[in-house]
Amino acid sequence: APTSERPALTIHLCAPRGFCAGVDRAIQIVELALEKYGRPVYVRHEIVHNKFVVDGLKTKGAVFVEELEEIPAADQERPVIFSAHGVPKAVPEDARSRNMFFLDATCPLVSKVHKEAEIHHRREREILLIGHAGHPEVIGTMGQLPEGTVTLIETEADALDFQPKTDRQLAFITQTTLSVDDTAGIVEVLRQRFPDIVAPHKEDICYATTNRQEAVKAVAPEVDAMIVVGAPNSSNSQRLREVAERAGCTTSHLIQRASDIDWNAFSGISSLGLTAGASAPETLVEEIIAAFADRYSVSVETVRTAEETIAFNLPRELREAPTQAP
Ligand code: F3S
Repeated sequence: APTSERPALTIHLCAPRGFCAGVDRAIQIVELALEKYGRPVYVRHEIVHNKFVVDGLKTKGAVFVEELEEIPAADQERPVIFSAHGVPKAVPEDARSRNMFFLDATCPLVSKVHKEAEIHHRREREILLIGHAGHPEVIGTMGQLPEGTVTLIETEADALDFQPKTDRQLAFITQTTLSVDDTAGIVEVLRQRFPDIVAPHKEDICYATTNRQEAVKAVAPEVDAMIVVGAPNSSNSQRLREVAERAGCTTSHLIQRASDIDWNAFSGISSLGLTAGASAPETLVEEIIAAFADRYSVSVETVRTAEETIAFNLPRELREAPTQAP
């Protein structure tokens, strides 16, 4: 429609949004490994939970598998990369026993939680993990210790039902991408029941999760509808959608690409909140803004609630300076 006939729409763009330092590092590891070692490079599990990112890396020569045994015998010397979500201890052990060369793209903030689990275990504490069953990060964190060592707590009801298995001191750790508010509720229940429970020194929920939820809380009450760009299997993206809903925006959608937009759901709106999960690239945000600009006369306002400057080092193998020609 000509500009004059299009209804006006203000897009409130959340900041921070999209890629976190851990996702950025994980993608760089795959790209640099492809440059340095050529193709194929194997990646165990989606490097980050985003189909667009995964497909892009596939075209560059990355091959995605769920388990190491899927790597063909002829390719056992090819590098294999572990995803940002982290892996159970058994996985690098298995890779070593097969003489595989692996690079670990586990986010350093997930590795930090793994270390906490080990320290609690060494100090003979009984460990609770607050998280979502079946998520690869939870499988990885629980898999740092022998099976049955860590008890998973998913909800306040779980926290109320929990019965210690031992008379040891209790300690809890959490998944990095949880809802800040839900987790506070669960921790509150645990603290009431077990006042001596040991908590993480610094939150296990990462800075990126916290900041993206904060920005959504600032925007959601002000807008008619909200879009979170992200994948259905992305935990932090799902949480952003829930946070928007709870902050008062009942029309809150998780969308992977502009082509997924159900335009009926957005008819008659005059303001839209927009954010992206930590694994969603900015191009997908731009694509969605462009799709709205085809139908509305769009103006974009950024709502920033935090600045982010954090970046993580790459694994040593990929940091070495390229050999200079003499
Ligand atoms: Fe790491 Fe948090 Fe991103 S744990 S991968 S910085 S969402």
